[in-house]
Amino acid sequence: MPLACLTDFQALARERLSKSSWDYIDGGAGEGVTRDDNVAAFKKIQLRPRYLRDMSKVDISTTIQGEKISAPIGISPTGFHRLACTDGEMSTARAAQATDVCYITSTYASCTLEDIVTAAPRGLRWFQLYVQPDRQLNKQLIQRAESLGFKALVITVDVPTLGNRRHDIRNQLDLKTNLLLKNLQSPQEGSGMPNLQMTAIDPSISWNDLSWFQSLTNLPIILKGILTREDAELALKHNVQGIIVSNHGGRQLDEVSASIDALPEVIAAVKGKVEVYVDGGIRSGNDVLKALALGAKCVFIGRPILWGLACQGESGVEEVLNILKKEFHISMTLTGCRSVAEINRDLIQFSRL
Ligand code: FNR
Ligand code: LAC
Repeated sequence: MPLACLTDFQALARERLSKSSWDYIDGGAGEGVTRDDNVAAFKKIQLRPRYLRDMSKVDISTTIQGEKISAPIGISPTGFHRLACTDGEMSTARAAQATDVCYITSTYASCTLEDIVTAAPRGLRWFQLYVQPDRQLNKQLIQRAESLGFKALVITVDVPTLGNRRHDIRNQLDLKTNLLLKNLQSPQEGSGMPNLQMTAIDPSISWNDLSWFQSLTNLPIILKGILTREDAELALKHNVQGIIVSNHGGRQLDEVSASIDALPEVIAAVKGKVEVYVDGGIRSGNDVLKALALGAKCVFIGRPILWGLACQGESGVEEVLNILKKEFHISMTLTGCRSVAEINRDLIQFSRL
């Protein structure tokens, strides 16, 4: 039976993956309240379609940071793609290139950045940095990514410590035994680095460090994990070029707002000065449309990419992205939007349910 939507991929991925891998990918922090709310919050928003607008031509393409993309849909950084399929991030990169979307590659990739770039040399990619306690290592990683052609530096800010994930504790999950963090080992160390913890993220980073990152690179800097107007204002003050409104798929602090609910306050604070993106719970074309109507320039998806990889490797990711693009095309057509520029706040209302 053909897979018709992203949740079909979810169901099949669950059958294909080991219990501990499935739980790691699927799970949220704490009681999983925010993880579930990310999806549920979209369903409380209703659409207000407009008709009789000549919908014979609909263009879903857009730009992010000045680069053209086929749709306002991209791939959120997620680690360890080799958990889901043998070629890991190389497959993801090929699928992103084939569908012409932006792939944010994680510091925790299980393939080297060089192999990822070689696999899909023409793809648009951003590099997501987990700030390492060894400051020189950050410098090397950033400059390596820049020289490999990554087009933006995404700094994830919501992991001063890893969220508390009960399922991983119960499963005694230990990613180190199976997978190496390929980009955090120096070439001299070969396949070594046995003691590197997944939690090796510098908890001491603060707003004052941003100027150091800016001194290291010409790439635009985008902060991922902002949820409040206060932090959005500070981000602007520190001259970042973009913000990803995100709660890490509900995997960090539980019981924060669904990302789509946090988006309006960040959009209001940013006042159009930089691009704002959102991730968390996007599973359908209507979700993409709602996020854009609330002011996001582009959305990113995390888990559905891993479902695609687990089901059918590279072609599974391609299919996930193509389904979402096709659904978004239908959503635009049925609401009277001929281009993404026509998507605005009038398209939605919040239900009182
Ligand atoms: C993540 N996420 C994440 N974020 C990040 O900045 N760096 C990373 O390495 C990872 N790793 C990671 C692994 C897995 C298995 C998941 C599910 C998530 C968070 C990710 O970028 C994104 O914010 C969420 O996944 C978005 O929510 P959805 O689309 O999964 O609902
Ligand atoms: C996670 C880390 C890798 O969410 O960001 O599992």
